[in-house]
Amino acid sequence: MARINDHYLKLKAGYLFPEIARRVRAFAEAHPDAPIIKMGIGDVTEPLPEACRTAMIRAVEEMGDPATFRGYGPEQGYEWLRQAIAQHDFQARGCDIDASEIFVSDGSKCDCGNILDILGHENTIAVTDPVYPVYVDTNVMAGHTGPANDRGEYAGLIYLPITAENQFTASIPTQKVDVIYLCFPNNPTGAVATCEHLQEWVNYARAHGSLILFDAAYEAYISEPGIPHSIYEVEGARECAIEFRSFSKTAGFTGTRCAFTVVPKSLKGQAGDGSRVDLWSLWYRRQSTKFNGVSYIVQRGAEAVYTEAGQAQVKGLIRFYLENARIIREQLMAAGIQVYGGVNAPYVWVKAPAGLSSWDFFDKLLHRCHVVGTPGSGFGSAGEGYFRLSAFNSRANVEEAMRRITSTF
Ligand code: MLT
Repeated sequence: MARINDHYLKLKAGYLFPEIARRVRAFAEAHPDAPIIKMGIGDVTEPLPEACRTAMIRAVEEMGDPATFRGYGPEQGYEWLRQAIAQHDFQARGCDIDASEIFVSDGSKCDCGNILDILGHENTIAVTDPVYPVYVDTNVMAGHTGPANDRGEYAGLIYLPITAENQFTASIPTQKVDVIYLCFPNNPTGAVATCEHLQEWVNYARAHGSLILFDAAYEAYISEPGIPHSIYEVEGARECAIEFRSFSKTAGFTGTRCAFTVVPKSLKGQAGDGSRVDLWSLWYRRQSTKFNGVSYIVQRGAEAVYTEAGQAQVKGLIRFYLENARIIREQLMAAGIQVYGGVNAPYVWVKAPAGLSSWDFFDKLLHRCHVVGTPGSGFGSAGEGYFRLSAFNSRANVEEAMRRITSTF
């Protein structure tokens, strides 16, 4: 019999979102008439921007003509898309990032997990608590941790608590950590980092030779001025950080699939013999071996995000979801419920009413209000007592969900 990867057996029962879906399905089967409103997983609901659709339709037509048909594309992504990304998302913000440092992919979640292919097993790894579960579970799968304790914390991982007391931004560790996952705007708390805070992390990473894995999938939701959209806005980040970005939440691509990862050519890691090696070369080697690129059609759709029309339409989408977030925040606050986030992020981090655990609140919301959210404890033990509501929904659903919640709690 083939041996399995035993590390999978250390994983807690199910990945958070399928586990929620399982509970919701069970409830819906028992109560087929309950009008359930889902504000759990952060999945977009509004249609793809017209500029993207038009570009994709044109690309489909090109694929039907022998003169313009395309087979395999470059594994790293088409040059025209990487140029558009480098110019609009980085150079226009003063970041020294070149198109050759962009790797187009089919998702940030995949890239966050796949990046472990090029990192060794000896690294000490730090995550915030609460945290996007993918960072933790992919490290468990790769054998970078011991078993979980009864709080769900894996031996060998360093957990940095983020709470209301520290404005949901972790303090810089006192010990040496080799790899640090940071996510801003934060999933799940909706918090953002100032340039000063990111500078502290970059200074720490450079002093200790650490690598920062910076997830900026929600960057487009930053609505307040003065907040960095990229870690490369901070001095020295090219020497210590990889950044993950996505079209999923920016342009409604969760089902269409397109994202990108930035690996600066100046970024080095240490080999077993002590020599310094470019992470860019390793990632390029990994991608060209295990990945064949994103479809031409989808990359043309992503490129259209950077046109004038695309930018206007994407901004409209973001405004729409942020207005949902505002409604959630304000209605809950008016009902005396403590909330965080939701200003520069599509997530509102809600303090469960006194005496209720995260899963208690989940069950009560599901059974009494027929509203689904995500229990904070599913993101880590420091998320206990919190609950995440996603602003990705129709306006009518958000208003109805708030009406039900505020009339119940
Ligand atoms: C979430 O709800 O946290 C996101 O949808 C997860 C993801 O983007 O993979």
